[in-house]
Amino acid sequence: MNHILHVVGARPNFIKAAPVLRAIRQRGIRQTLVHTGQHYDRNMSDVFFTELEIPEPDVNLTVASGSHASQTAQIMRRLEPVVLECKPDMTLVYGDVNSTVAAALVCSKLLVPVGHVEAGLRSFDRTMPEEINRMVTDCLSDVLFTPSEDADTNLLREGVPKERIHLVGNAMIDSLLRLLPAARNCCKNRFSERFALVTLHRPSNVDHVETLREILDSLTKVSKDLNIIFPVHPRTRQRIIEFGINAQNLRLLDPMPYIEFLAFQSEAAVVITDSGGIQEETTYMGIPCLTLRHNTERPITVTVGTNILVGNDRARLITELGKILKGNSKKGITPPLWDGRTGDRIADVLQRM
Ligand code: UD1
Repeated sequence: MNHILHVVGARPNFIKAAPVLRAIRQRGIRQTLVHTGQHYDRNMSDVFFTELEIPEPDVNLTVASGSHASQTAQIMRRLEPVVLECKPDMTLVYGDVNSTVAAALVCSKLLVPVGHVEAGLRSFDRTMPEEINRMVTDCLSDVLFTPSEDADTNLLREGVPKERIHLVGNAMIDSLLRLLPAARNCCKNRFSERFALVTLHRPSNVDHVETLREILDSLTKVSKDLNIIFPVHPRTRQRIIEFGINAQNLRLLDPMPYIEFLAFQSEAAVVITDSGGIQEETTYMGIPCLTLRHNTERPITVTVGTNILVGNDRARLITELGKILKGNSKKGITPPLWDGRTGDRIADVLQRM
């Protein structure tokens, strides 16, 4: 393998790609980095490149927002000539965002082998756009790098040949381990009172006025007894404004840089979220996590980690929160291979090819 193309586009991709880029660079293999521009705000993109020491992208497709179809199509149209020109031996795609599936489609049709980092995760919920992206990307991928055994099981069940699957662990945890010391340093003495850290951006939670209003009402109730730190995703902020919801009693913050967000996570009494990656990060750090979803593509965070799925059941949220605040939180363990060496294992596999 002489030349690898990486395609990233959205916030969680940057965290997963950073350790892989570093490990491949150390092996002297040529790399080209494409940013699709799916996330473009400074605090959704640039700060992640700086903090994670990701090199400047060689190409930025500047696609920005749009419906799923138009965003995916724009990425495909703009990526195709780049792939034709740079002729990589393989393209690596990350996670489950629109940039991931768009790149997998373009490359597989140009007969460029595709490697998928974080393959095999399934929520079995096809109403989630990310589930469609995961299934299509895995189906088109030639090399599937999985974070946990449940992912291997899903792929084998779907008929993926065993020799294409490589259980390498969780690349996101590589970045976490690398920057946790900086996170602890940056925010020392900043946390005097107990707090809950909240994130919210899934379409199923934020795109319907009644659902979003209910969640924000529940959080407002919680905030009477517990400080709430709520960095708000742009999608969610847009919806709050569009729906005219009064969220004045919740202090809405801008999205945080990675290191600062890690610091808040590591000190939180509890994290309330609908993110995928945060379910994993809290499991690694042993921080209680209440997930505002009915299912998860990361079941290991529930079976061995600190994650509890509360769906949109307000009573359940309050009950589980009460238990945690009384000190009766779920004690988890670290899943196998979430050890900071996933980037190296991926690079080793690629080097042997
Ligand atoms: C995307 C991913 C989701 C991932 C999330 C992490 C898909 C289908 N979804 O969701 O899996 O968990 O990223 O953040 O790919 N926006 C800005 N500034 C930005 C980025 C987005 O204002 O820098 C706004 C856009 O205008 C858009 C909305 O946020 O209207 C949603 O952005 P989009 O990338 O479509 O999806 P996310 O909700 O971020």
